Amino acid sequence: MVIAKRIDLLGTETAFAVSAEAATFAAKGNVVFPFHLGDLNYPTPSTVVDGAFKAVKDGKNGYCPSGGISELREAIAADVSASHGVEYTAENVVVQSGGKPTIGKFIMTLMNPGDEVLYPNPGYPIYESQIEFYGGVAIPYAYVETETGFALDFDALEATITDKTRLLIFNDLQNPMGAESSVSEHEKLAELVLEHDLYVLCDEAYFDMRYAGTSISLVTQPVMVERCVILYTFSKKFAMTGWRLGASIGPKEIVDVIAKININDESCTTHFIQYGGVAGLAGDQTEVLAILDSLEERRDVIVDALNGIEGVSCFRPNATFYVWPNVTEAARNKGMDDYEVFRRAALHATGVSFCNRLHFGRPAPDETERYIRFAYSGIDVDQIAEGMALFKDFCES
Ligand SMILES: Cc1ncc(COP(=O)(O)O)c(C=O)c1O
Repeated sequence: MVIAKRIDLLGTETAFAVSAEAATFAAKGNVVFPFHLGDLNYPTPSTVVDGAFKAVKDGKNGYCPSGGISELREAIAADVSASHGVEYTAENVVVQSGGKPTIGKFIMTLMNPGDEVLYPNPGYPIYESQIEFYGGVAIPYAYVETETGFALDFDALEATITDKTRLLIFNDLQNPMGAESSVSEHEKLAELVLEHDLYVLCDEAYFDMRYAGTSISLVTQPVMVERCVILYTFSKKFAMTGWRLGASIGPKEIVDVIAKININDESCTTHFIQYGGVAGLAGDQTEVLAILDSLEERRDVIVDALNGIEGVSCFRPNATFYVWPNVTEAARNKGMDDYEVFRRAALHATGVSFCNRLHFGRPAPDETERYIRFAYSGIDVDQIAEGMALFKDFCES
């Protein structure tokens, strides 16, 4: 069998490989503390479940419009207009099977082979994969560690822009770092976008996963509504990762092309699940807020525990469900400068399973600091505390 050449360009989400390794370790009878995957161990709110069940019983089992049912497009437009303070209508929304499809479809719509695309690195690995798969040139930009968290390395970002740069991928409330840009960073980014005639994918997968303060989108900057496509997802806020429901939101001209791609790819997003989304957005938010309260408690337990380990320092993000501790000193104290050696040794010694910097894009040659990522969305507080105690022993022994 000969597999098509283009498949050589396709990357993957290597966090799933870490999951497989943890599962193999667990199958041998070991206890695993799962910090590797950004999945949630909460049930989906009953409003969503009831809405989807009712739709199945009501016979919503046939094809539906490729752009999504109008009730959901309207509900998402209203939700985003309210949370972002800008005006979107159903015409600006195309429903997707989750957040992820927006990445490839945005790139397919706006990038020609040879175009350069700026993307965050460390960042969600699918950006790099999809840019390269469609023949683009993936140009990484980085964040720098500050006293209060992580900030865009703006000068470095600007320096990478050439006359071939066409797109910018921006994941504010960032996976894996939990980084959040200030309004002044948004202002500078928006200026850059206009100056260089760029289009932006605003990956807002974590826009609603916030414990303090307010999420502010790049689209609130002047003209950015015309320049940005928002990646919107039900996965995280409604604990619906396996349901697959999300949307691309942006200028009608782009949204219409993405709906055409939907026709070619999947015809439509699962019909009855869309009614679950409508019910979730319209219904009582008590269960959604309870998920956030619980995540906040988990965040505090893990951040406090990590900061109590010699050679580890960790900033406390106000959003997402990830932490990105700097473990440079701890890894060196153990003589484990190599990322994978450190990760595997921790897994085998303690059962604590996490991703590291290598799972979030190709590292730059001059990187000296060592970071790992803990997701606390799929593990209860007691287990977090137990896993962190073992991880502390591992790091300090
Ligand atoms: C930054 C980012 N974007 C997009 C996604 C994809 O979300 P979904 O599961 O809704 O496809 C994820 C999932 O973890 C993510 O972390």
